Amino acid sequence: MELDWGLGQYEPTGQSLLPISEIVVAMSEPLAGKRVVDLGTGTGNAALLAAERGAVVTGVDPAARLVEVARKRAVERGVQADFVVGDAASIPVADGGADLLLSVFAVIFAPDADAAIAEMTRVTAPDGLIRLTSWVPGGSMMAINGTAGKFMAEVFGAPKPAGPEPLAWHDEDALRAAFAKYGFGVKVERRSMDLTAKSAEEFLAKSAQHPMAVSAAQALASRPDGAELQAELERRLLAAVQEINEDPAAYKVSNQYAIVTARRG
Ligand SMILES: C[S@@+](CC[C@H](N)C(=O)[O-])C[C@H]1O[C@@H](n2cnc3c(N)ncnc32)[C@H](O)[C@@H]1O
Repeated sequence: MELDWGLGQYEPTGQSLLPISEIVVAMSEPLAGKRVVDLGTGTGNAALLAAERGAVVTGVDPAARLVEVARKRAVERGVQADFVVGDAASIPVADGGADLLLSVFAVIFAPDADAAIAEMTRVTAPDGLIRLTSWVPGGSMMAINGTAGKFMAEVFGAPKPAGPEPLAWHDEDALRAAFAKYGFGVKVERRSMDLTAKSAEEFLAKSAQHPMAVSAAQALASRPDGAELQAELERRLLAAVQEINEDPAAYKVSNQYAIVTARRG
């Protein structure tokens, strides 16, 4: 079953990822008058930044609660932007309706990458571009998700390998092959973002209400030994984030990510 990103509190993570939306939006200037679609907008980070630069913005996200949060943020900031519930597999935008399609760590979670690419290329105008970000394996996001995924598979059994093959959204060769089918070329840039905390414990506590953590906790709580399982998951997560700590005096992890730009031709 697909994760509801409206569970728990995505907001603190959204806040920590804001610098990446700032980079992606700044590198997409000029934006005045451009039609921008922010696919998987979450709390509206990239959408609001683009709207502040004069773009005509539609933020799309399957999580109804986050769409409401994004709408509220737009009102608070006095910014005009539309936010609609929708999914990468069926983007609620007309053919060629986006001069710029952004997706900051979002379309990478779509269960069917090819369907998402078909849709992103459909809504992108003939001279428009797609710009998305993806984590590169090795950082804290993947340490946490990988550890939790492995633990949940141990407890509940590995999910059936139904559905399409996942796409390596950070990998230029894989992306080139996936987008070529739709007549799009791809360029990938690597960047890094440091995440810091006073300690590994504090770092982990910041993501305790993340939708993935809340979803895992709810599933574990359905088991008679749920409390012990939850404690074991937390022990393993702490060990995983400690292992990648780069600052012995506190906590720091550099997360590599890819900025992917795709356009026709
Ligand atoms: C890590 S959050 C990123 C949110 C936002 N772009 C940001 O930078 O804070 C991932 C987002 O992708 C959205 N998402 C997950 N599956 C999706 C799908 N199939 N289509 C579109 N968005 C999806 C989630 O609802 C969530 O808001």
